[in-house]
Amino acid sequence: MKKYKIAVIPGDGIGPEVMRESVRVLEQIAATDGRFCFDFTWFPWGCEYYLKNGEMMPADGIQTLSSFDAILLGAVGYPGVPDHVSLRDLLIRIRHDFDEYINLRPVKLLHGAICPLEGVRPEDIDMIFVRENSEGEYSGQGAWLYKDTPQEVVIQDSVFSRKGTERVIRYAYELARKEKKTLTSISKGNALNYSMVFWDQIFKEVGREYPDVETHSLLVDAASMFMVKDPKRFQVVVTSNLFGDILTDLGAAIAGGMGLAAGANLNPEKAFPSMFEPIHGSAPDIAGKGIANPLASIWAVSQLMDFLGYEEWGERIIQAIEKQLVAKEGLTPDQGGTASTEECTETLLRYLLNK
Ligand code: IPM
Ligand code: MG
Repeated sequence: MKKYKIAVIPGDGIGPEVMRESVRVLEQIAATDGRFCFDFTWFPWGCEYYLKNGEMMPADGIQTLSSFDAILLGAVGYPGVPDHVSLRDLLIRIRHDFDEYINLRPVKLLHGAICPLEGVRPEDIDMIFVRENSEGEYSGQGAWLYKDTPQEVVIQDSVFSRKGTERVIRYAYELARKEKKTLTSISKGNALNYSMVFWDQIFKEVGREYPDVETHSLLVDAASMFMVKDPKRFQVVVTSNLFGDILTDLGAAIAGGMGLAAGANLNPEKAFPSMFEPIHGSAPDIAGKGIANPLASIWAVSQLMDFLGYEEWGERIIQAIEKQLVAKEGLTPDQGGTASTEECTETLLRYLLNK
């Protein structure tokens, strides 16, 4: 029987609450399927760990994680530790050091999910964002000069390498070709005269190899307007790290809310483990109350099943979430229900396993 080694980093706030549920779902899937099993190792890294040890994870943390097949991450960040420290030293560090250069984020409105837009049907919101995840605006490079003086200057560098830009754009073209979908590139070449002019150029260059893929190019400001006014024009979308960050929160808002939004941080070559996470963050305001929505985290499990090559399970999970939303059963408060985190998973499991 195939055994997958999974590293679980529950992290902070509601992270541990939703992570327990993801693991429960994976255990049930393995028990039902019978072809594979999971071996989970839990790592107590995060803000609490930082307050005790002065670091978000041990110095050899990355090395420790490198022997796993995949990582499940809950959420990172808590009041008391500056966000730029907690996030850069754990979440962004893993994305970067494991060269997880693709961040795949579905923006898909399921039947039964809440949508604040009028006159929009679920079929109208069915996008997949391919967010660059290793460089760009998140390079972490820059300088803080003449600190605390009137001459103070800060520089935050965006880094767009040819290799980094080509590979994410190529991945998006491949995905669009495979799924027979249109591809929209989102950039900002009219103002960012180096990085985004370069991005647009690479998008055209790589596109010559994909004459079968219908493409569109949009400026990020216009794209955010169209996501609200006319979301059906987007299918596969490729964009930079920061634009992808912002637009996928907008995407979550139009497709059921943060309680349903998931992301896969992929190293497609499988040279390093990939990481799967809900994108809602640690939500300190509801942490410890047992009401966090586990469905985003479970959606990330669906992405993990896809990545491991069990697409039928990936699909079944999404269908189960949809059935649950339509039935309005076992939903947490963010979805208008009164269920607890655990009750929500129990309902989900019933739909998933046809019990
Ligand atoms: C996300 C998050 C992170 C990001 C934060 C927490 C650093 O917002 O995964 O979208 O900006 O990538
Ligand atoms: Mg974000």
